[in-house]
Amino acid sequence: MGNGYNVAVVGATGAVGTKMIQMLEQTTLPLKKVILLASKRSAGKTLQFKGASLTVEELVPESFEGIDLALFSAGGGISAKFAPEAVKRGAVVVDNTSHFRMDPEVPLVVPEVNKEALKRHKGIIANPNCSTIQMMVALEPIRKQAGLNRIIVSTYQAVSGAGARAIEELKREAQAYLDNVAVADWHPEILPCGGDKKHYPIAFNALPQIDKFAEEDYTFEEWKMVNETKKIMEDSTIKVAATCVRIPVASGHSESVYVETETPISVATVREILAQAPGVIVEDDPSQQIYPQAIQSIDKKETFVGRIRKDLDIETGLHLWVVSDNLLKGAAWNSVQIAETLHEMDLLHI
Ligand code: A2P
Repeated sequence: MGNGYNVAVVGATGAVGTKMIQMLEQTTLPLKKVILLASKRSAGKTLQFKGASLTVEELVPESFEGIDLALFSAGGGISAKFAPEAVKRGAVVVDNTSHFRMDPEVPLVVPEVNKEALKRHKGIIANPNCSTIQMMVALEPIRKQAGLNRIIVSTYQAVSGAGARAIEELKREAQAYLDNVAVADWHPEILPCGGDKKHYPIAFNALPQIDKFAEEDYTFEEWKMVNETKKIMEDSTIKVAATCVRIPVASGHSESVYVETETPISVATVREILAQAPGVIVEDDPSQQIYPQAIQSIDKKETFVGRIRKDLDIETGLHLWVVSDNLLKGAAWNSVQIAETLHEMDLLHI
């Protein structure tokens, strides 16, 4: 690999894509060239990279000629069509969408948890769902110490997970509220889910729907947390149930996580092992009102854990509050970290 990699960012103008550019500015990966790809609508726009102006190009199959690494975040349909085109031209793809995640041929990776799975890649590596990633970072050290039988999680998810237009929708509705515009006149168009039939206000609200509804009246987002946890932890016996809720926060997902371990573990031990764990920062001091907060997680790569408590009735039960920047560890940073890990393991090639 000469003097660095040629990298393409697909969906460079989006909520995650812009963060990918930031993460590439900070990466330890040797870079030769970065190209920015988006839809025809954005072609010709310029974005900054390390102080230089880069022109956004329209995504076409030929965009990947000479590319070593392609980071995708432009929707599942775009990944389905263009990721194979990138691989065909010799690029390794790290895909942020859900399209390839459950494909048995595709590793689904959180580097702190299962980087060994990267050895099996055939060109495409999937980045897990944002809510799943931060939960895995927090729970893997506990699982290593005490095993894990069951997870029950409720999420409090930021709107940026639904893309740049969802952030605009929250801002517009918040302004309408301040301007005393009646809720009936807000006319939401994106949330809870761009592709679904009905849309509801998000400002000053909480929506218990992320993605569309699927089997058993769980949403796809909830199923992602269930299925991706089992795949990443390589244990189909872990019991997982999720309730995913969108709240009017711009960035930073919060999660109330209840787990039952195989053997009892004390709060002191959990704090100790999490304090040593890669990618985790423990913020847990009730006497000083110290606990993780979404707004403080913004632009941080770590996952923050606090409110660590024993369940009052179940001996192996534990409660935790887990927070991370959904656009960074939940998306752009985990993707670039996968690329850095591939490079370190000499796997950044097909
Ligand atoms: P564009 O800005 O040109 O529409 P978000 O998740 O914030 O909504 O961003 C989605 C990203 O995916 C944007 O960068 C968007 O580019 C890109 N995108 C959407 N549709 C296409 C397409 N048909 N081809 C390439 N990129 C696309």
